[in-house]
Order: sequence, then C-alpha cells, then structure tokens
Amino acid sequence: MGMSRRDFMRITLASASMMALPHTARAASLPTNVKKEALPMAFTLPPLPYDKSALEPHISAQTLEFHHGKHHQAYVTKTNELVAGTPLEGKPLEDVIVAAWNDKNQVLFNNAAQVWNHTFFWSCMSPNGGGKPTGKLAQQIEKDFGSYEKFAEAFKQAGVTQFGSGWAWLVADASGKLSVTKTPNAELPMVTGNTAILTCDVWEHAYYLDYQNRRPDFLTTFLEKVVNWEFAAENYDNLAAQQAA
Ligand SMILES: [Fe+2]
Repeated sequence: MGMSRRDFMRITLASASMMALPHTARAASLPTNVKKEALPMAFTLPPLPYDKSALEPHISAQTLEFHHGKHHQAYVTKTNELVAGTPLEGKPLEDVIVAAWNDKNQVLFNNAAQVWNHTFFWSCMSPNGGGKPTGKLAQQIEKDFGSYEKFAEAFKQAGVTQFGSGWAWLVADASGKLSVTKTPNAELPMVTGNTAILTCDVWEHAYYLDYQNRRPDFLTTFLEKVVNWEFAAENYDNLAAQQAA
C-alpha cells in the first residue's frame, strides 16, 4: 500500500517535533506560511531526557528500551489512531485526555493519559537523582507530611498497595497543599483537579526486568537513587506562579 499525502505529512511533522517540549509532545513550530489548523498534527514519542543506560544500575537500559521504545510508543501510536478523523485530532494532549474522561471513552482515555503519564515520569528521574527536596517544595512537604521521611513512607506505601497496574503520585491541590495518592491503570491527577508534582510508574513493565516481583525494592530505589527533586520542585513552583498570575 502506498503512502498517502496524509501519512507523509504525519511522518514529516512527527520528525519535526522531536525537539518539542516534553509536556506537549507535538510539533514545536511550523513555517509561518502554513496554517496550523489546516494540518492536524500527530502526537509523537518525546525522546528520553537522558541516555537509556544513564539510570543504570538502578534501572537498566533494557527496561527503558522496552518501557519507552515499546510501551510508551504504543500509547502514542494508538492515541493517534483513535483521534484521527475526530474533532479531537490536532487538539492538545491534555484536551484529549479530559474530553475522553468526560465522554467515558475509556480506550482513548487509557492511551492518551498513558502518553502524558510516561512523558511526565521520564522527567521524574535523573542520572543525578536521589537526595531530598529543597526550597519551597521541601518546606511544604515538612508542613503537610511532618517530615521528608513520613512523605517517603506514604509514597512507597501508595505504590506498594496499588493493586495491579497504576501510579503513585505526589500531588498538590488548588491551594498548594500536598498529598500522596495512587491511581489505577492510566488515571492521573488532572481529572480530579489536582496537579502532578511527582510520580512513579508501578506497572510491572516499569520494573519487572530489573526487580522481578520486588515492587517495594523498586520504589525504594526510585526514591533513594533516581528521583528528580529538581523537576518536582519546578512543578510546585510553576503551580504557585500560576496561582499568583
Ligand atoms: Fe509504564
């Protein structure tokens, strides 16, 4: 089967958007003489923010090869298939997620939300990760949990007790108050009006190659060795800046 012009445009735009901001995962810009509305843009797999071996020995290159290259890619591909030819084609990812949630379109919600969750999750880890939060986020953690250690215990507990697949989160509500939550499958804080500050993927595909069934060990390593507090602190600061605007 030959490549249609539409397919060609999708591939071209997908290539052009590789440098887009990770949260938006779509074409960063188009030539000024192209009407954006005329060209529905496909979502693309954002590159990992580090080399796939950069988190070793804590998370192997093989895990990231499958998790990013296969699982995350599959969610991107499926989301594009599902929105093609619908009023949601070309809309921002967040709009697709909220519309699918409100319409109870479970298949679209699952795939689109997993695109967002994984894009966010990659930035929640860093080769220079671990340690403790600093700044405003650190102060708020002390205030809302009593101590960093109490937060860490709650976060691990959320991840360990999420039955089946899902996510552990540090979230902030509209007032900036922090809490730890867990969600099943693809569910994410934006559909309950909260802002994601930090997450850990507790689907088996996130850890099975490295930790087999030892999810608690994976969560401990996540917090002690790879967690990116700089990214989390930025997310918290951004929320405060939005509220002040
Ligand atoms: Fe995952």
